[in-house]
Amino acid sequence: MTQSVLFFDSGVGGLSVLQQVRLHSPHLNLRYVMDDAAFPYGTKSDDVLTQRVQQVCFSAVQQCSPDILVIACNTASTLALPALRQTLDIPVVGVVPAIKPAAQLAKRGHIGLLATPATVERLYINDLIQDFAEHCKVDRLGSSELVQWAEDYLASGQPVPQLQAHLQPWFERCPEMTHVVLGCTHFPLLKPQLQQLWPDIHWIDSGEAIARRVASLLHQSRKLQKNESEEHSPEAHSGRDGELSLHWTSANLSQPAAQRFLLELGELTEATQLALHTANRQNETKC
Ligand code: DGL
Repeated sequence: MTQSVLFFDSGVGGLSVLQQVRLHSPHLNLRYVMDDAAFPYGTKSDDVLTQRVQQVCFSAVQQCSPDILVIACNTASTLALPALRQTLDIPVVGVVPAIKPAAQLAKRGHIGLLATPATVERLYINDLIQDFAEHCKVDRLGSSELVQWAEDYLASGQPVPQLQAHLQPWFERCPEMTHVVLGCTHFPLLKPQLQQLWPDIHWIDSGEAIARRVASLLHQSRKLQKNESEEHSPEAHSGRDGELSLHWTSANLSQPAAQRFLLELGELTEATQLALHTANRQNETKC
């Protein structure tokens, strides 16, 4: 049976991660859940966010029965991963800022972290820096504007005119910065524009690493299932691309930007609102 991966974010940002998984493992069924009713996450308090993320992820897993859940949101991952792993009985992959690879690559030892205001303040980030980038100078910039502009860009296809004025003062304050970590999944959607404006900066995100991690976890679980059923047939997929589906939490009737993005990647078999329920309700209809 085709394995399926569920992606979760507040808005369209996690599509940048889904895209990498699609490129890496086209045969997988990919389901995308956006909590647009509670967008944006990056300005919400930790308490509100922890509860919300758990509620939506629990509902989504109940309804979609995926093999694996990817929290395609740095703001949620740096806060709620332990709680989610405790509640859910499938592997949960978090997306966190790629500080480790950036610190390995930056020869001058000065890296930037561009993320939501919530993410840049997290203790999780202090730990990441202490563990993997202690030899580096790390400058953090929290921006909720970039999150909204990434949403607007996906909706309109129009480049973001405010990018240069918004980020230039940061680069002027940190002239030694050579590598910038895109620590919000919305930001890789703006990468072509960032590269055009600052061609000397290396822009680093977590998308490819997550795609490899998902493939490896699913491979392990297939091997385990084969051993359990004592089947030793070679791994086989149908050769067809997997299905794509989209789910959201607001009362909107459709999500044109996300739907267009997914349609560029393949066949969209479902686009529906997600039914939210509390963590102890059972027997929901499956999607
Ligand atoms: N895409 C999300 C992240 O990676 C959240 C953006 C937001 O809702 O503020 O942090």
